[in-house]
Amino acid sequence: MEDGKTEPPGPDLARGIALSDLPDGGKLLGHVGDEPVLLARRGAEIFAIGAVCTHYSGPLAEGLIVGDTVRCPWHHACFSLRTGEALHAPALSPVDSWAAEQRDGKVFVREKRAAPRDTARLRSREPGRIVIVGGGAAGFAAAEMLRRKKFEGQIVVLSADDSPPVDRPNLSKDYLAGNAPEDWLPLRPSEYYRDNGIELRLQATVEGIDVALREARLAGGETVSFDRLLLASGAEPVRPSIPGASPSQILVLRSLADCRAIIERAKAAKTVLVLGASFIGLEVAASLRARGIEVHVAAPEKTPMERVLGHEMGEFVRALHEQHGVRFHLGATAAAVDGREIRLSDGGRIEADFVVAGLGVRPRVGLAEAAGVKVDRGVIVDAHLETSAPGIFAAGDIARWPDPIGGEAIRVEHWVVAERQGQVSALNMMGDRTPFAAAPFFWSQHYDVPINYVGHAERWDEVAVEGNIAAKDCVVRYKRGGRTLAVASIFRDAESLEAEVKFEASAKA
Ligand SMILES: Cc1cc2nc3c(=O)[nH]c(=O)nc-3n(C[C@H](O)[C@H](O)[C@H](O)COP(=O)(O)OP(=O)(O)OC[C@H]3O[C@@H](n4cnc5c(N)ncnc54)[C@H](O)[C@@H]3O)c2cc1C
Ligand code: FES
Repeated sequence: MEDGKTEPPGPDLARGIALSDLPDGGKLLGHVGDEPVLLARRGAEIFAIGAVCTHYSGPLAEGLIVGDTVRCPWHHACFSLRTGEALHAPALSPVDSWAAEQRDGKVFVREKRAAPRDTARLRSREPGRIVIVGGGAAGFAAAEMLRRKKFEGQIVVLSADDSPPVDRPNLSKDYLAGNAPEDWLPLRPSEYYRDNGIELRLQATVEGIDVALREARLAGGETVSFDRLLLASGAEPVRPSIPGASPSQILVLRSLADCRAIIERAKAAKTVLVLGASFIGLEVAASLRARGIEVHVAAPEKTPMERVLGHEMGEFVRALHEQHGVRFHLGATAAAVDGREIRLSDGGRIEADFVVAGLGVRPRVGLAEAAGVKVDRGVIVDAHLETSAPGIFAAGDIARWPDPIGGEAIRVEHWVVAERQGQVSALNMMGDRTPFAAAPFFWSQHYDVPINYVGHAERWDEVAVEGNIAAKDCVVRYKRGGRTLAVASIFRDAESLEAEVKFEASAKA
């Protein structure tokens, strides 16, 4: 267009399309006015909803229709085709929804509907006061879902952070790279909490929980009583102790404050050493390269990410980072620091302005443990995310739940899982009995390459590669005893979504 505006996509749906252009089970992308609209058909029903995902603007028309929902191809958010509601994270806001009409063999999209109707199935003041420990993925998603489902009691979120809940995955990606402004980070603007009656208390560290008295004790001695409690305290980055290193030399990345500290130091830095070649370490490496900094990565393994993604994908990731100038020191750890010089265990020496440790995390289970709640490499929860203490739930990085897909109790550190567990625990704290049965999903971004991973494979005996990893067009299946446990993919979003649906179906079987 001459004025620089882009044309809205596809046919004008207000003018109508032939019904034969929309076969049963089909979907197409069109527009109404300037707005892209996804039109979908299921039997005699026609649905019209906004075509742009409210998470990171993924193209819903390229997603997967499952029953009367559509899943986003990028990070698997799920929207109702009937109302536009964001049913499953990572999207938390609805898309618009339009009325669709069939007449004389044609389909017309008519007026926009009001925002998704109140899903007030659970409208309730019970159980009085819900306290959430943690203002991260799980804690925020729980509070949001409680209000969405019209919980009318008190919600208190106690967060040790000094900022309201943020989009944590962005902290190692665009924000750290300098490509995203800070106002992209909050999951909701600060007035959201006030407007929705959510008492968000920042810098409020819970030091103890009295299960019998139903009280959380804050640092400073104040107690907050609860009728239901959600533990969503996340995980703590591992901080290495390296002889000679001063604390200010070694940074970690978990919170917005951590990220700001890295960005501040990066401004004057020429060289940075990243310890650890897993997701956080390598995303940090990519983001610091985007800032023009020389980046070295030291890690004990021979192939980055091999433990999670296998050898072939790991080698691809190594080559990708090398093409972008990252210098690997694999099979080596930091042995000692002398001023700016870091001595590696293989004898190598690196002069670096600072070090970022991406050495993994430990779940913050101390509160649960001290309260007598059952802990075994994570807080043990049942299928409804309730801990061994009735009325106390756990979600996110701390929770070990009985995974109905793999049949084992697992704990993962994924954003989408934490949010979805927060959502399910919200329903259950209100008295619902919804089991958590989602297939674990995560994504990781390295330069312009997104890696999506669905399922859970701690061990496998076969890796089946379809497509071409080096060409960034592949599906990698991790199998044990012939059964697919997990699927990693690059630019094969449809297959990733189909795998998710299959995993979920296998849980129900
Ligand atoms: C930089 C970064 C990038 C990531 N990128 C991805 C990604 O691309 N994809 C992906 O799937 N996952 C990613 N993850 C992992 C993902 O962010 C976590 O799995 C997710 O945040 C876990 O959610 P959570 O609610 O369990 O914990 P968190 O989000 O960590 O929230 C924990 C909250 O608990 C609070 N807290 C802790 N102890 C106390 C206490 N005693 N009292 C009060 N409050 C307390 C903390 O202050 C915090 O607010 C990333 C993580 C990081 C750090
Ligand atoms: S862009 Fe749709 S889920 Fe992320």
